[in-house]
Amino acid sequence: MSKKLWGGRFKKKIDKDFEEFSKSVQYDYKLAEYDIYHSIIHVSTLAASKILTPQEAQKLISVLSGILKEIRAGKFKYDPACEDIHSDIQNRVEKKVGELALKLHSLRSRNDQIVFDEKWYCLDQGIDIGKIVTALGIAVVEKAAKSGKDFFIGYTHTQRAQIISFSDYLYAWAEIFLKDCKRLNDFCEGLELVIGAGALTGTALKKEAYQKAAEQFLRADKIKKSWSVLNNALFTISDRDFIVEFLSILSLIQMHLSRMAEDFILYSTKEFDFFDLPEEFCTGSSLMPHKKNPDFLELVRGLTGKIYGNLMAILTTMKGLPLTYNRDMQLDKEPLFSSVETVKEELKIMAKFVKGIKLKKENIKEALKDEQLYATEIAEFLVTKKKVAFKEAHDVVGKLIRYSEDKKKKIEDMDDLVLKTFHPVLKAGDLKKIMTPKYAIDSKKSVSRALPKLKKK
Ligand code: ARG
Repeated sequence: MSKKLWGGRFKKKIDKDFEEFSKSVQYDYKLAEYDIYHSIIHVSTLAASKILTPQEAQKLISVLSGILKEIRAGKFKYDPACEDIHSDIQNRVEKKVGELALKLHSLRSRNDQIVFDEKWYCLDQGIDIGKIVTALGIAVVEKAAKSGKDFFIGYTHTQRAQIISFSDYLYAWAEIFLKDCKRLNDFCEGLELVIGAGALTGTALKKEAYQKAAEQFLRADKIKKSWSVLNNALFTISDRDFIVEFLSILSLIQMHLSRMAEDFILYSTKEFDFFDLPEEFCTGSSLMPHKKNPDFLELVRGLTGKIYGNLMAILTTMKGLPLTYNRDMQLDKEPLFSSVETVKEELKIMAKFVKGIKLKKENIKEALKDEQLYATEIAEFLVTKKKVAFKEAHDVVGKLIRYSEDKKKKIEDMDDLVLKTFHPVLKAGDLKKIMTPKYAIDSKKSVSRALPKLKKK
């Protein structure tokens, strides 16, 4: 059993099974770096408040900085015997400086440490995920730039709707990811980093001392983030809304990835046959020799259950919790880490996947022969150029399509005499001009087609 940060009032030893059951070090070790930040700022505040001598503070900070170096080099191995990461670091410091370490935790609570650590984690991960989403957006934009004048089919209700350019299709995704980046950015900017909330009511140390130590630490570590004033300690200790917010953004990103995966799966089926998927992200069947299955995309789609589940887990854990800290809140970490790690992995692979997609141009060309894809353009032509009322134009074109289907006769083979029976202004010459992919796209004047501004960070 390792040393604990509490115990004086207990007569009995902790039950072994319960001790294991209640441990969090096996996952909260991921917060080690931020816990050291807390300790360094705290030690400086204690020194400024004359609770530690400058020499004592110096000694503690030097040991803490040594552990920080180890963590940043990826060499830190948590001690599974410890209750949590706070106790682990405390014990390490004690091993190095002996009795002096007993002063490290003066006027401080793990309740303050944990919320501090988690905010830092969210901040770092928010910035990092922003970069990865940007990289995916850029991969999509580069693909769009290379697709030139390739046409594609736009769907509503998974039914053929209108002709689009393939680049517009891809830019839609870039636009979606750009919005995700903005959400992450706003989230990171809105995170309020505070310290000194104690167990729930604040501490005897002055807020100015905390403030000064924190700002000094940020400057020394070149961390671009401003410090916030601690207004209400009860709120700070109780607050896990930022985790719910972060997991909501990650859920949105997941939803986008899942929709993208679904599109790609559909377009790669023999039924659509528009996409050739990159083989290195597909798998075969152990029985059916012909199969090339889109497993990566299916896993992305399937992982939505986990990512939404993580958000629901935290929302449900927090529901009905009385102010302020409750041990239930320890359970916020695994869902948080799980969503962060999973979404990052998915985004990284999706960027490579997008680059590898090949458009089956011949098949698209064939599909574009479907005259029904131009029905809307014909109706719009009647309205804008022939001043027919839209309701009437809609009806006329609807009947024309129906006739073409029933008689198995192509519209392009109908002469003026036949067309006249639907509407006196319908002319074969006009229809020939309208029923081309280029016309369909050029006739859309309401869209600026400004390119999404995704910049590498
Ligand atoms: N492991 C705890 C958590 O993650 C740290 C805070 C513990 N505080 C306490 N009063 N037991 O929530």
